[in-house]
Amino acid sequence: MESLSVSQKMAQAQDFLPINGTDYVEFYVGNAKQAAYYYKAAFGFQSLAYAGPETGVKDRASYVLQQGKIRLVLTTPLKSDNPINQHIYKHGDGVKILALWVDDAYKSYEETTKRGARSYMEPQTITDEHGEVKISGIYTYGETVHMFIERKNYNGPFLPGYKEWKSSFNPSDVGLQYVDHCVGNVGWNRMNDTVKWYEDVMGFANILSFDDKQINTEYSALMSKVMSNGNGYVKFPINEPAEGKKKSQIEEYLEFYEGEGVQHVAIATNDIITTVRELKARGVEFLDTPDTYYEELFDRVGKIDEDVAPLQELKILVDRDDEGYLLQIFTKPVEDRPTLFFEIIQRKGAKSFGAGNFKALFESIEREQAKRGNL
Ligand code: FE2
Repeated sequence: MESLSVSQKMAQAQDFLPINGTDYVEFYVGNAKQAAYYYKAAFGFQSLAYAGPETGVKDRASYVLQQGKIRLVLTTPLKSDNPINQHIYKHGDGVKILALWVDDAYKSYEETTKRGARSYMEPQTITDEHGEVKISGIYTYGETVHMFIERKNYNGPFLPGYKEWKSSFNPSDVGLQYVDHCVGNVGWNRMNDTVKWYEDVMGFANILSFDDKQINTEYSALMSKVMSNGNGYVKFPINEPAEGKKKSQIEEYLEFYEGEGVQHVAIATNDIITTVRELKARGVEFLDTPDTYYEELFDRVGKIDEDVAPLQELKILVDRDDEGYLLQIFTKPVEDRPTLFFEIIQRKGAKSFGAGNFKALFESIEREQAKRGNL
């Protein structure tokens, strides 16, 4: 088993749930209007669609933003009796829905629920003047949901119920292309059950595994397994805390998210140096990396296309696997709770996740954890 490449392991996934990619990522937030401004101004997302009182939706407002193939939905409730408030009260701003673009939303629901998935939304067909969309949904870890979206007979801006959102404020994009992977943090002894759930219910394959011997620093540790669908368009690494001298960063997340949930969304770019330079100029905060990381960079990763100077200036990390290399960097949490953050990644052949950077990365996270008094 261990001698198989990542690509060979992906081929072991089952095909009862064909997925074409991530359809959208929906956040429940306390103030969607202001969050939308942040993702436009800081991350370069473009206004795409809107639903709210002005479009006939009375209980919430949702702003849809797009950049490359990535769609973010930011939703806020309008009154205290809306159940979305419970999610925000407990978890703070966070990811509620990882929506998957499928060919058949009814079959996706049937195949997953008959294998044990808990229902979130029974299949339904929604329509407007632009056509029809079929949707359904199941729960995954914590209160997080996978929606299945079938949109082959739809040509509207987003989904029925949403209207095109034209804004006079349109900051340029920063070159973000698509969702590369979305990572979930689960509780103690919950990683293997969650992995088995993705195998049994979704037909995914476990393509990479890291234990606490590989992912540890002097103080804290975690374990991680990467789940992928058959074509590799959807990848969900699952993290679990591990015992260390001090508190694991996963424990800190679980404590402040008050449960399991999405830890980070990784977004791909074709030019990480330009993208990260622009994001930093617009106020996105990234984790720092000591200059010593760059002293032996080429000894560790071999020859790469980039000069070391801009990588060191921007604190971009590099790692290599059998199939190529990757460049990556992580933001600080994008809310006051130390919970959700983003990764920016550029793949140059590598299909892995930067295991060679885990130590440098986690030491950086621990410096931030220590500042918060949570290490
Ligand atoms: Fe990642």
